[in-house]
Amino acid sequence: MKSSRRSFLKISGALAALAALPSSVKAFYKDVKNFIILPKHTTPISITVNKKTYKVTADTRTTLLDLLREQLHLTGAKKGCDHGQCGACTVHINGKHVLSCLTLAAQAAGKEVTTIEGLAEGDKLHPMQKAFIECDGFQCGYCTPGQIMSAVACVNEGHTKSLAAIKEFMSGNLCRCGAYNGIVESIQKVAAL
Ligand code: FES
Ligand code: FES
Repeated sequence: MKSSRRSFLKISGALAALAALPSSVKAFYKDVKNFIILPKHTTPISITVNKKTYKVTADTRTTLLDLLREQLHLTGAKKGCDHGQCGACTVHINGKHVLSCLTLAAQAAGKEVTTIEGLAEGDKLHPMQKAFIECDGFQCGYCTPGQIMSAVACVNEGHTKSLAAIKEFMSGNLCRCGAYNGIVESIQKVAAL
């Protein structure tokens, strides 16, 4: 009983406070609301993914990760954190590894995007994919597409001279299963080919 009376008092107090807000403050909050709920703007995008060109229309705020997964139905790149902190969404743009959750789809227009789906040639796995299998570079596999895309970039960009250099390059790719030893071994194996 006491608690419902207390809740009633709290709610009516809050409503009274809201009604008493000066009109300038109310106008400010209305402006903020209008600013946050932006009108929808779409843009045509021509994008080449895994050697295939797609012509799509997307909201200008669409990330490359969402475009790949939601519109092109390429779900290899994973949405782990969506904040640039886990590396699960790593893909290549013009050969450079990027976090697709922090890249706007419009920024990739006219460029060559490679995802995990584009690494193998038909039934022939990329050497890094083979190495991950041979070295137990994964367990649940959720982080693996991003790990492999970063691992390929690690070798291509020559960051394999030492264990420390590999670890430093791969530090943006997190693995909840802790498959790090197998991942490093895979990279060393491919670097030695
Ligand atoms: Fe992009 Fe985590 S989903 S870094
Ligand atoms: Fe499970 Fe990396 S293999 S998160």
